[in-house]
Amino acid sequence: MDNSKKTKRKILVTQALPYANAPLHLGHILEAVQTDIWSRFHNLNGNECLFFCADDTHGTPVMLKANEMGIKPEKLIDDVYKDHKSTYEIYGINFTNFYTTHSDENKKYSEYIYECAKNNNLISKSNIQQYYDEKEEMFLSDRYIKGTCPKCDAENQNGDNCGVCGASYNVLDIKNPISIVSNTVPIKKESEHIFFDLPQKNEMLKIFLKDVDLQKSIKNKLNEWLNEDLKKWDISRDAPYFGFEIPGEKDKYFYVWVDAPIGYIASIANWADKNNINMEDLWSENSNYEIYHFIGKDIAYFHGLFWPALLSAASFKLPNGINVHGFLTINGEKMSKSKGTGILAKEFADITNPETLRYYFAAKLNNKVEDIDLNFEDYVQRINSDLVGKYLNIASRSASFLKKNKNILSDNINNVVINNLILKKNEVISLYETKEYSKLVRVIMDLADDVNKYINDQTPWKKDIDEAIEIASTAVNAFYILSVYLHPIIPNITNEAFEFLNIKKISFFDVEKTNIKQINDYKPLLNRLEQIIIPEEEDMDNVNLINIDQFSAVDLRVAKIVKAEHVEGADKLLQLTLDVGDLGQRNVFAGIKSAYDPEDLTDRHIVLVNNLEPRKMKFGISEGMVLASSNDDGIYLVSPDEGAEPGMKVR
Ligand code: 2FM
Ligand code: ZN
Repeated sequence: MDNSKKTKRKILVTQALPYANAPLHLGHILEAVQTDIWSRFHNLNGNECLFFCADDTHGTPVMLKANEMGIKPEKLIDDVYKDHKSTYEIYGINFTNFYTTHSDENKKYSEYIYECAKNNNLISKSNIQQYYDEKEEMFLSDRYIKGTCPKCDAENQNGDNCGVCGASYNVLDIKNPISIVSNTVPIKKESEHIFFDLPQKNEMLKIFLKDVDLQKSIKNKLNEWLNEDLKKWDISRDAPYFGFEIPGEKDKYFYVWVDAPIGYIASIANWADKNNINMEDLWSENSNYEIYHFIGKDIAYFHGLFWPALLSAASFKLPNGINVHGFLTINGEKMSKSKGTGILAKEFADITNPETLRYYFAAKLNNKVEDIDLNFEDYVQRINSDLVGKYLNIASRSASFLKKNKNILSDNINNVVINNLILKKNEVISLYETKEYSKLVRVIMDLADDVNKYINDQTPWKKDIDEAIEIASTAVNAFYILSVYLHPIIPNITNEAFEFLNIKKISFFDVEKTNIKQINDYKPLLNRLEQIIIPEEEDMDNVNLINIDQFSAVDLRVAKIVKAEHVEGADKLLQLTLDVGDLGQRNVFAGIKSAYDPEDLTDRHIVLVNNLEPRKMKFGISEGMVLASSNDDGIYLVSPDEGAEPGMKVR
């Protein structure tokens, strides 16, 4: 392909906006990685791909969570924003802009789209009846009601469906309703709501679904909804609500699902403004940009129906494509905190190299709406076998020969080996483009196998030095091509590879033209992974009785902190050196960084679990655990009273 003549595509891509009421979990990272790989790929392939996201900050859960914490919602979303942003950074997610839906831009666009809808006679009002919590003085959506199933009489069921008999029902039909916000009995109350006339958009949506690039199974589902009777969409919520007030109304707010997707546009507008770019050129009716959304299957309804209807009401360009992915399971189970599978993204990054998770997700992802399983054993095996054993092995085994030649490569390289890799370039490009990442990873690893086989067959260790250098030079050039192919998946590891190779600028275009002349000394780019163990969450609600022998089995000791240090790359941990008297010193990694400055800890006495199995972590071995208690506000180390000496038993 003559790439110089290729026209440069302009692409806007978004991933779903995470809710600002909790930290990110690994499911969020799955979607971010899928999107980020696609976006990085396009940029590497000579296109312009801009990647936008924001925190989804409005709605009742954020409001209630802030109330519960005794802070303002604005403070909560600020804190969560910082946490989300830094978490995405840890996983190498390369947003063009990560913004918030609680912004002036978003307010402006939400109001504008609403006004357009109104001018197009798409807005109407009618009264609806809802449960109302008199104690909290708020209307309650279905999720805040529990009660007895009207069909089978099972108690304590959800507001709109029964977990026992599977029935779906109108929340107003549930028996013995209880507000789970205040634990009181709610009353039924009427209020006026504002509706968006979705049925008027039926034809437009049918055409949209015909044209949009979206998985068939999802299209079918959405078409079913379109063909059943489409209802008007309730877009207002009564005060108190954390969100944008609806212009011209009193105490009425836009439902969070109105301004959330508009947050895509607002994030783009915010970036455009900062970079003196005309928003009209990016996302308007006549924009030259292709628009793609990446989302999970649970929100296909919003993105496939409500969202295009809103856009069309205000004459914005409709998305060219929506990519829907399945859910993440962990070791075969749905993610759940109580089963220890609701793993937070930051926790996981503390126990493994985050880039290896990108690789694992890529190795499992395809363009279907299938669920993906993260299996820890498979994960460790996969990383060690593919990244360490195949890909990086090529560099590490070649580097030792080249070192004998001052790291200078021979010009005399084996073109058959190199051409074998170049011939796959178009297939690699097309698998990225179609999001068939798992096939793609297989193709790349097969190529790595070929290169390793070439080295094995050539036995450079038996050859004279000139020949050995030629073989190693061939292998290093092959390693370069593999690194370019892998770059969108593991950007940091490959960037280090490019440093090793003395390469400044890379692209898919001229991957065949690059000829490595001289390398730097090889430093291992990734260590083999050990077994993954997630620290277990305690279940606070269950008190399990133990006997005195079980308690005595725990060896608790007074210890003195002799040194406390930050741990590079760890977000939550401090490294403590503990003096345990006659028992000697211990190295312990404690998750207390958010609450303590290392300087304040020196010479403090604490309580150590002395006979806990040593745990191998990314940063070293942790030999025990320090006792601490915690709540939403902080972490509190447990200290003995004055007089206790290091090494003394606690019982
Ligand atoms: O389901 C969710 O997590 C939503 N916060 C996604 C919003 S995506 C977009 F529409 F804003
Ligand atoms: Zn039931």
